[in-house]
Parts: sequence; structure tokens; C-alpha cells
Amino acid sequence: MDRYAVIGNPIKQSMSPEIHTAFAQETHQDLEYDKLFAEVDGFKAAADEFFSAGAKGLNITAPFKLDAFDYADELTERARTAGAVNTLALQQDGSLLGDNTDGPGLVSDIRNHLGWSIKGKKLLVLGAGGATRGTLLPLLHEQPARLHIANRTASKALQLAQDFSAYGSLSASGLEDIPAGFDLIINASAAGLSGERPQIAATVVGAGCCAYDMVYGAEPTPFMRWASALGAETADGLGMLVGQAAEAFYLWRGVRPQVAPVLAMLRARLR
Ligand code: ATR
Repeated sequence: MDRYAVIGNPIKQSMSPEIHTAFAQETHQDLEYDKLFAEVDGFKAAADEFFSAGAKGLNITAPFKLDAFDYADELTERARTAGAVNTLALQQDGSLLGDNTDGPGLVSDIRNHLGWSIKGKKLLVLGAGGATRGTLLPLLHEQPARLHIANRTASKALQLAQDFSAYGSLSASGLEDIPAGFDLIINASAAGLSGERPQIAATVVGAGCCAYDMVYGAEPTPFMRWASALGAETADGLGMLVGQAAEAFYLWRGVRPQVAPVLAMLRARLR
């Protein structure tokens, strides 16, 4: 049977095995999907062992996305610009392709599942770490009217805007001087992980604004509660988790699984 896994440290919390097992059932694919734990400096040894035992693909979660980037023989454009790999796929010739499906997972959740548009909209992305870098190219491909990156440390936002300037028109600032009136705000900062939200002015929330938090949980996040109180429609990042898994599944198996039933199952379990 074809073998796959997700590797991370910690890994206990990962919902990827349930997600991929559900995808496999729904699409009638015969595969096995496990969790792999590796020591912080042990990615290469664990990946070598897994692939030499005949495995077909690997998902990579924290803290190994940069190790996987170095490990891949070949990279997709979106993995190269993201500077990180979350999916490795064994190819026909025995080489390993490194991809990054986080951005496509985010875009498909926003566009297909939530039904929010990105094309022609004024888009604000909060944060300038790996989560932002990993999703900028797929977001720019959707052709927003503008894309502004704002970060607590302004210099990091300015650097990212410069790094991606070849792919679209970007602006950047610190959190205190963001222009007003955005249509879509994506929180890619890690603020929610410590129960906080980025400190930004209410004026950034435009009329009919949609607000997306890449973090998810049983309750709406602080950022979602703040945006909702200002009249925005909100969503958390559970759909992005399922969306990135669906893109990885498609890369490995050539079949697109349905996202909605799996998302509903995970949502029910979180509550
Ligand atoms: P990730 O890979 O999840 O993006 P990261 O690279 O450590 O993680 O980046 C975390 C991001 O969240 C950064 O943009 C960080 O802002 P700084 O660059 O100023 O550190 C942002 N962040 C973390 N805590 C925050 C908070 N309480 N308010 C606003 N931004 C925060």
C-alpha cells in the first residue's frame, strides 16, 4: 500500500492523518497515512529512512519546513518563493519534488469555500513571518487591486514587499500607519497564538469587509471578535488546514477530494 505521513515536532496534535484518511475513503484511494516524530535536528535522518522504505510522500509541519526546502531535489515556484516546503512528493524518476500548498489552501478556502473574492479587492495582510511569505505568491496570482503588508516590526514588512515586488504591486508599513478601508484582511501574524490580536486601527476595516485569521480554535479568535464587532464577516484558518491537505493529496494522487465534508467533521470535533 502507498505510504504517506506528516512529520513534525511536536506531532501529536496533528489532524493530517484524519484528513487524508477521509480524503482517501471518499476518493477510493488505497493508502496509509501516519504521524512521524523527529528530533529538532533529525529531519534528514527521519526523511531518509521513510523514503528508503518506499514511502511516496510527506507533509511537513513546524519546525521542519525549511529543512524540507533544503531536502527537496526540485522545487515548485510557489515553494521557492515561500522559502519553505510543506509537501514532498516522490516523482517517477525517483527524485523528490518540494511544494508549498499553504497558499493555495488559503486561496481555495477564501474563494471556493467562503465565497469571498480576492480579485480586484483591497487586501491587507498582517504579519511578515513565514506564514505571510508562504502565501503571498498565490494571493498575488488572484490579482487583488492592491496588497498591503503590515507588521509590528515595520522593516520586516518593507523587506517582504521588496522581495515580492517582481510578482505584483505591494505596499508595506508598521501596524500604526496602515491606510484605511480594506475589503479583505488576512491575519497571518502569530498574535492569536498568545491570545492577542495585532493592534490596528478600526479605520482599516472597510464597508463589507471580510476578515480571515490563519489561526483556528474552538472559539472565534481575538482578531475575529474584533473584526466582527466592526461589522466584518469573519472566518478562522481551519479551512486553510483542510485546503492545504487537499492540494497535497491532489499532487500525490492526481485526484481532488471534497473539502466541505472533512471541514464539517473537524469543526464538529473542535467544538
Ligand atoms: P510564522 O512562521 O507563523 O509567520 P514567525 O516567522 O515567527 O511565525 O512570525 C510571526 C509573525 O507574527 C511576525 O510577523 C510577528 O511580528 P514581528 O515581526 O514584529 O515579531 C507577528 N506577531 C507575533 N506576535 C504578535 C503580536 N502580539 N502582535 C502583532 N504581531 C505579532
